[in-house]
Amino acid sequence: MPILNRAAELQNEVTEWRRHIHERPELLFAVENTAAFVAEKLKEFGVDEIVTGIGRTGVVGLIKGRGEGSRAIGLRADMDALPLTEITGKPWASTTPGKMHACGHDGHTAMLLGAAKYLAETRNFNGNVAVIFQPAEEGGGGGNLMVKDGMMERFGIEEVYGMHNMPGLPVGQFAIRKGPIMAATDEFTVTVKGRGGHAAQPNRTIDPIVIATQIITNLQMIASRNVDPLRSVVVSVTKFNAGFAHNVIPNEATFAGTVRTLDEAVRDQAESRFRQIVSGIAATHDAEAEIAFHRNYPVTSNHEAETVHATQIATDIAGAANVNADIDPMMGGEDFSYMLNARPGAFIFIGNGDTAGLHNPAYDFNDEAISHGISYWVRLAEQRLGE
Ligand code: NI
Repeated sequence: MPILNRAAELQNEVTEWRRHIHERPELLFAVENTAAFVAEKLKEFGVDEIVTGIGRTGVVGLIKGRGEGSRAIGLRADMDALPLTEITGKPWASTTPGKMHACGHDGHTAMLLGAAKYLAETRNFNGNVAVIFQPAEEGGGGGNLMVKDGMMERFGIEEVYGMHNMPGLPVGQFAIRKGPIMAATDEFTVTVKGRGGHAAQPNRTIDPIVIATQIITNLQMIASRNVDPLRSVVVSVTKFNAGFAHNVIPNEATFAGTVRTLDEAVRDQAESRFRQIVSGIAATHDAEAEIAFHRNYPVTSNHEAETVHATQIATDIAGAANVNADIDPMMGGEDFSYMLNARPGAFIFIGNGDTAGLHNPAYDFNDEAISHGISYWVRLAEQRLGE
């Protein structure tokens, strides 16, 4: 079955919503206007229950089916933008310098609103559909906060599904995989404390720059010599700060970065090696190292049965040739991971066509994808809550 006729009819209206949101990007939890727009639309559609303020600024709408039953499935979109200045020059480009929808969350929100409109009109299902609009996906863990606020229990959500656009994947195509699909995104900051002094008398100092650079070089051993070569790990140092003059060895050097992994055992191993390497090398050279290691978003891991359901729906809509059911996992992160840790479900990619990449100032969500995304959401809800 191809895209739904009604979804195609909704294309223009949903495109308007998408561009409305795109023009008005908001960051992290400060998505008040976007959340208000979402809540207003849900009200207009006749959604039965609309709850705002879950996970600070998240919104959940509950749509009751014709049939009996208390089972609910959750369909989730994200609402926040990024701290970038848009360069697309499009008529609907961001009106706020330093903020833009560079990850397509405007499109995700608009597509889920389109699905909500459809589902509220037709209600061809038993039980309930919870449409979930979360803040702070781009850092901040808004999804985690919604789960902690008791969203799953409150709405009786038994399964939960997420969707993200993917530049480079043709419009009308989907990609998914069972198991880990996106990485855990841990973050670290290390301060190496030595003893500064005259650059011409290094023997009287404990040079934190030389020590920190040795630590950084040795951290690459985690990937090359510690973790099983058939498993995945990324250790990237992305910041380094030290010193202020040509002739002074400073007291301290600080570096920071991220560790990406696709399973919990490797995650534990990487953190434990990280700490040993940093402390060990610092101690060898009589320096001290202060380590702040923050466990950020967990691995986004698709559950097996729900991935089969999601793949089947995508195949119904797009045809088998347009669904990659075994895409390689990505080392980027997603805070939908927290919802998948709370309930079984699956996260799928939808083609955004030949556009600039995510988090790029030239990126724009592709409105051509809208009817495909709405069709996927609607069919998934109807199928999972069918007889
Ligand atoms: Ni995103």
